[in-house]
Amino acid sequence: MNKNVTSEKQLSAEAACDFVKDGMIVGLGTGTSAEFAVRKIGKLVSEGLSIKGIPTSNRTKKLAENEGIPLIDFSESMFIDLTIDGADEIDGNLNMIKGGGAALLQEKIVASVSRTEIIVGSKTKIVDHLGAFPLPVEVIPFGWQVVFNQLESLHGNPDLRLNNGQPLVTDQGNYIIDCHFRKIETPKLLENQLNLIPGVVENGLFINLCTKMILADGEQLIVKDRKIKTI
Ligand code: 5RP
Repeated sequence: MNKNVTSEKQLSAEAACDFVKDGMIVGLGTGTSAEFAVRKIGKLVSEGLSIKGIPTSNRTKKLAENEGIPLIDFSESMFIDLTIDGADEIDGNLNMIKGGGAALLQEKIVASVSRTEIIVGSKTKIVDHLGAFPLPVEVIPFGWQVVFNQLESLHGNPDLRLNNGQPLVTDQGNYIIDCHFRKIETPKLLENQLNLIPGVVENGLFINLCTKMILADGEQLIVKDRKIKTI
């Protein structure tokens, strides 16, 4: 990865950690940007910060355990005070495409119950329109070909995501079909349309879920808040 992009990810992720306070339940995102936040939170915990984390993937769970962050699941709390996660694309309304790291399902569940969702990363994530980045659609393995067909009918130019020549299997045992819509004019409508296809578990459009964006442009932070979020 480009060295500047990596340091922008680190700068923004660590800045977001200023919002992590004692006693909070914290959603731990997935991806290279979110990992910087998990490591920083681990350091703060080792210095005495008391929080409980809910990870968004097996990968993040492992990292958080290694960092000594106490973890819980939704049997202990239905709400999360603050989540720090990354994004593949973010537009001017703070709507996003996520799931480049195949963790969109857990990430969306976590985001949906987070009072504050901070998105971190490099300025390279900002777009005018969502859709240049392939939109991941998580599907159950049974009948994935049927869903694929429907995605073709929606002009999604779908591709089954592979790992070493085999379908990539998500943490929940599902497959990912990446769609190349190129320019998504009506993200909320498309999100709903996709989730109505039988066999689709979730898709990577995150609409009205980000409450604060903290991205870095070199050494500068670009901060933007979204006004309304009530849980
Ligand atoms: C994982 C994600 C990531 O947040 C997204 O892919 C961004 O990753 P990175 O911070 O490595 O650029 O949605 O499913």
